[in-house]
This record gives sequence, C-alpha cells and structure tokens, in this order.
Amino acid sequence: MIHLLDIDSLTANDVSRILNLADDPSPFPVLAGRGAALLFEKPSARTRSALEMAVVQLGGHPIYISASEVGLDERESVEDVTRVLAGYNAVIGARVFDHRILERMVAVSGVPVVNLLSDRAHPTQALADLLTMRAEFGQLEGLTLGYVGDANNVARSLALAAGLSGVAVRVASPRGYGFSESDLRDLRRHGCEPVQVTNPREAVGGADVVYTDAWTSMGQETQAEQRRRDFAGFTVNRALMSDAADSAVFMHCLPAHRGEEVEAAVIDGPRSRVWPQAANRMHAARALLMWLSSHDEDARSQP
Ligand code: CP
Ligand code: NVA
Repeated sequence: MIHLLDIDSLTANDVSRILNLADDPSPFPVLAGRGAALLFEKPSARTRSALEMAVVQLGGHPIYISASEVGLDERESVEDVTRVLAGYNAVIGARVFDHRILERMVAVSGVPVVNLLSDRAHPTQALADLLTMRAEFGQLEGLTLGYVGDANNVARSLALAAGLSGVAVRVASPRGYGFSESDLRDLRRHGCEPVQVTNPREAVGGADVVYTDAWTSMGQETQAEQRRRDFAGFTVNRALMSDAADSAVFMHCLPAHRGEEVEAAVIDGPRSRVWPQAANRMHAARALLMWLSSHDEDARSQP
C-alpha cells in the first residue's frame, strides 16, 4: 500500500511518471464506481476543487467531509473514522493541522492516504509546481529555484520534489524561519542540498523560478503581527525579481497576500505563472490518483 504523506515516499522515477500521466489527454476512468473521501480540518479553495474535479475526471465520486462534521477525536477517534471511510472509498485525502493525524490514518487505513496539506508538508502542491515549471522550461533538470520566505510545509515538499527532479534549491528566510537541522538532514537524505541564506537576493540571483508563500500559515494566526515584523524585507518585489534570470517566472501556491510576501505588480505582472500553477493542481491530482490506482491494481493482482 502506497501513501503520500510527503514527496519523500516517491522516487525520482515515480515523480517523473506522475508528471507524464498529467499529460494523458484521455485518462482511463480508474475510479469508476468508487469514492474518494476528502477530509478537511482547514479551509481550501484550490485543493478541494482540484481533487474533486480530478476524481470526477477519473469516473469516481468525491465526498467532501469537514473535520468538524465527523468530529475527529471528539465524536470518534481518527482511527475509527479512517477505517469507516476506507470501507467506501478508493482513497482518503486529508488536510490536517497536525501531521501526526495523517500517520495515525496510515496506520489503520486499507486504502491510500494522501496528505492534502499538514503543518509539515504539501505534496500535491509540489507536484503541480513541478508540472508548471516543466511546462514553462521544457525540462526540470538544471533549473534553479529561489524560494523567499518561511521554510514551511510548502517549501519542504517543494524542496524534496525539486531535489528529486534535478532542480537546485536556494532558500532565503529570516533567522529562525529557515529549515531546521533535522529538515536539512531529511532533505539531504532524499537528494536535495538546499542552499540556505538570510539574504533574499542571494536566493534569487540568476534563478529560473522565484517562489514564495504566506508569512503566516493556517494555524499560526496568533503569530501574524510578529511574523510581519520578522519578514520585513522578504517581499518579492520588482527589484528582487530583476536579480533573477531574464526568463525567470514567479510562482506562489496561493492564497497570496499582496503587499506582504509579494508585491501586487509581481503577482499580477507578466512573469507571474500563478494561475496556470493553480490550474495544474487538478492535472497533478488526477495524475497522482492514476498512479496510486495503478499501484493498487498491482497489489490486488498479487497472488
Ligand atoms: N495552494 C493551496 O493549497 O490552496 P488552498 O489552501 O486554497 O487549497
Ligand atoms: N503555508 C500555507 C499554504 C496554504 C496553501 C499554509 O499552510 O497555510
């Protein structure tokens, strides 16, 4: 059974196969007659819609469940909810505050569990990001990504995915907001050697892709004021973009906060690829579900 809690469950070959599946113009309806449970503890515009549409495109039925409705660990334990959902669905996707909830799901689930964003990782976003970069530059190998901002869930999965795909990663964060030593060890173990700096210009200089995310992630709202102060000088603005390669593009997982992590003139400007990037969430999700389903078939055909 393959689960996707982060990109480190995948090999470079897996990632490349998933990206290629995203281009399949007429995917086989591998989820025909099957359900996909999509459980959310936090809000979502892109991930929920992308996953729901991907499931529909594969002939399946998406079931959106808000965590408050099932009352995770209140009305019923995480384990019991997971066992029940696995009885109706070919896959369980979950967006949770605490990554350990996903690990508890994996421990009892009879179907693949996919992380739809936790405090640690956002793997379905990273796959869409690679797809967007590949569409822009034709290939991933040899590109340089400059990430400016919080070394958070999005940055961690993106760095793993980039590392597996031959993309060099440079991360600029204020002191205290970079990757931890244990993150760096994990990343290195999976082939990513990020250059970590505290000067955004060092991360962005000559880069092909400039990427940022919110300074305050969901669940950190009480830190917002402090973070605004700590991230001063880390806005991706036109001056910073001018340090990147001439052909560089700007990416952001969204939702964006114009005037904080990105200047409006950049995200709404000619180098921004945030809308195709958001649309690619659906294509990447569909590809991932196709790939998971091919593994499921393999598992079921074993004697
Ligand atoms: N990028 C992303 O995951 O967006 P949502 O939070 O709207 O799903
Ligand atoms: N880092 C952000 C990403 C949202 C898609 C968060 O966790 O809120």
